[in-house]
Amino acid sequence: MSSPESVIDIHSHFFPETWPDLAERFGTPDWPWLRHLGDGKAMVMVGEKDFRPIYSACWDVDKRLEEMDRDGVDIQVICATPVLFAYGRPAEQAADCARIFNDAALEMCGRAGGRLEALAQVPLQDIDLSCREVERAMADGHRGVQIGNHVGPKDLDDAGLVTFLHHCADLGAAVLVHPWDMMTDGRMKQYMLPWLVAMPAETQLSIVSLILSGAFERLPRSLRLCFAHGGGSFAFLLGRVDNAWRHRDIVRQDCPNPPSSYVDRFSVDSAVFDDGALKLLTDVMGPERIMMGTDYPFPLGEQSMGSGVRNNPHLDPSARAAMLGGNARRWLNLEDQTPARAVGA
Ligand code: CO
Repeated sequence: MSSPESVIDIHSHFFPETWPDLAERFGTPDWPWLRHLGDGKAMVMVGEKDFRPIYSACWDVDKRLEEMDRDGVDIQVICATPVLFAYGRPAEQAADCARIFNDAALEMCGRAGGRLEALAQVPLQDIDLSCREVERAMADGHRGVQIGNHVGPKDLDDAGLVTFLHHCADLGAAVLVHPWDMMTDGRMKQYMLPWLVAMPAETQLSIVSLILSGAFERLPRSLRLCFAHGGGSFAFLLGRVDNAWRHRDIVRQDCPNPPSSYVDRFSVDSAVFDDGALKLLTDVMGPERIMMGTDYPFPLGEQSMGSGVRNNPHLDPSARAAMLGGNARRWLNLEDQTPARAVGA
């Protein structure tokens, strides 16, 4: 259970040990499935192609808790991996998928003695179905929702997506935006370049779209929004966006205030893997807007969870404590675990 000193990782992923055969269920090929290789190892498959090697921490709660104990993490937030989103499929099928993986996430949380919390997935290609699924998930015990940073050509400033974000604010659902379906025109075939180059740009695109479209002027301040991977390229290039806003009317036409004035409307995780980068992020966002996030248990995640925040020489103790847990408690609404007070009593 959470306490004010709890160390909380807001960005980790899970896969259930098994799930229904989706190709058979929907009668179409190339759905994700898990090929177990024995000895706690498995390969996430998409159709007949290898997608990613994973290990038992993805589905085995005891293994996960053991590694959380090793690294001094009290609470972890689990969410699906974008390969399970199914945004490009018929919406009813994506909704069915969301229910399968959302229920599986809560089942894992139920075996973790209060040390795992979950963010749901939704069929984001259909806003009504998404609103319904996030309502169902919140009622069942999810803390919020993880969404991909775009749906096909629609960025987060799309009217439907803004409506969904508004609905999340009304429900008190935290929203983690995760880059996926990375822009690439064939020049990123090798070296995991889509993860290294396009993912940070996707995240920056989402944040800058929300800012320059004026969407933050329409969204309530109660929206608890967080972007993965330190917000991608955003913080490093915010000065460039501010400069453009000052000097070009086509940049500022829908955005009444300087882009940098909107940094108090969202948070980012700490997954930047460099002391200087985390210092820059802290200078731009403020320590109250950064939460420890690891991308555990994947190879591109933080291998010693929380070490980037704990060992950063530029952070003072209060900033470090806020990033390790205090900010996440508020973002996840973990403080609100006592029975609701009777109104007017
Ligand atoms: Co991730």
